[in-house]
Amino acid sequence: MSAQQTDSKDPTSHWVAQDRRYVWHPYTQHFTAPEAIPVERAEGVYLYTSDGQRILDGISSWWVNIHGHNHPRLNRALQEQADRFAQVIFAGFTHEPAVRLAAQLVQRTPANLTRAFFSDDGSTAVEVALKMAYQCWRNRGEFKRNLFVAFEHAYHGDTFGAMAAGGVEVFHSEYSGLFFEVRRARVRVSQPRRADSQEESHPAAELEAILEGEGQRVAAVIMEPMVQAAGGMILWPVEFLRHVREVTRHHGIPLIADEVFTGFGRTGKMFACQHGPIEPDILCLSKALTGGYLPLAVTLASEDIYESFLSKDRRKTFFHGHSYTGNALACAVALESLSVLDETKSLDRVMELEGLFTKRLEQLKSLPVVEEVRGIGALGVVELSRQGKSGYLDERGPKLAQAFLERGILLRPLGNVLYFLPPYVITDEEVHSVFDAIEEVLGSW
Ligand SMILES: Cc1ncc(COP(=O)(O)O)c(C=O)c1O
Repeated sequence: MSAQQTDSKDPTSHWVAQDRRYVWHPYTQHFTAPEAIPVERAEGVYLYTSDGQRILDGISSWWVNIHGHNHPRLNRALQEQADRFAQVIFAGFTHEPAVRLAAQLVQRTPANLTRAFFSDDGSTAVEVALKMAYQCWRNRGEFKRNLFVAFEHAYHGDTFGAMAAGGVEVFHSEYSGLFFEVRRARVRVSQPRRADSQEESHPAAELEAILEGEGQRVAAVIMEPMVQAAGGMILWPVEFLRHVREVTRHHGIPLIADEVFTGFGRTGKMFACQHGPIEPDILCLSKALTGGYLPLAVTLASEDIYESFLSKDRRKTFFHGHSYTGNALACAVALESLSVLDETKSLDRVMELEGLFTKRLEQLKSLPVVEEVRGIGALGVVELSRQGKSGYLDERGPKLAQAFLERGILLRPLGNVLYFLPPYVITDEEVHSVFDAIEEVLGSW
């Protein structure tokens, strides 16, 4: 049906046709993808479509929404800030929401992080981190540190620096001719996907070998603490996090913790670094920062790194900034989201969800199609047995997504890795209904 052929009395069918005609959606193969689902409103954990369907948002709308949709307090914070002003230039000017948010984040994140640099999304938070680490060395007179170290299966975003650091072949290999140099370390644990695995004494041994050999050239090491998300919801033991910190500290190399996915309670701690606990030199935050309302990111840096940019020589300035840096609407909502996290005791709820998920995941283990189950905090993962072209391009992914949509649930598997990652406000009953559906669908697979 073309845009011209739609029912003129049905405004939804008109704009849905315009979607087909005009829009290029993210991570979508338009040749084969089903039509995009038109959302009319959203409330709590549910999306409501124009044709009257109610869909449980089992992936927090791409991992951003933690308090539920259409949250009265976040709405009010947004409205109140909009009545003052929405956006002003953040170079040479400042405003209360950004300053209060920076102060709160510095207070809540590991103690060595003292400065907050705003940007727009997870990828830009990572770009900022990579540039900061790189220029920090140059500002100090070390010009040979052109190498970054990242991990196998890493995903840090879709901009060029973030892609160069990424290690997911299907997303990144097409562009690899344009990347800067990155060494990729594998992680050595005998049961790499178990969060509580304690079996291997040096899980960061490969990283150690790289730093022994080429440490003098390395600008920074970047990692996703505890969970590698888009790479397949891979969980790492806390020992790995500690080892990476020990090894990088031993070699005097900055550690960038990319907590774009894990930040704001998803793993049961406010920040995944606190599982260690470890202090990274640079920390990237975005996604749940605004409770899933507005694009905003923050890269936090240690005072040491910040000070390396202070100079009478203006060439040592951090030449980075975006038009919407420190957007006031987003900062006001982020501040309110932090208050909601505290006042509703969200972290306690995440731990309750972890308990509930663990029980239900255990029950799925016996299904023939299930290779492994795993989880941490408000994240439950079911990995299907590998067959043929597994990984992100596994044909079962889109089929599973469709089967769950037919049951009123939004799940978007990463190929053969099915995961459930709801807003923290989901009820026990709703959790059970999702696991019942998973059991039913996988049972007949
Ligand atoms: C760990 C991590 N870093 C960075 C990003 C990129 O974030 P964004 O999609 O907001 O650019 C993601 C997105 O999934 C992520 O999981």
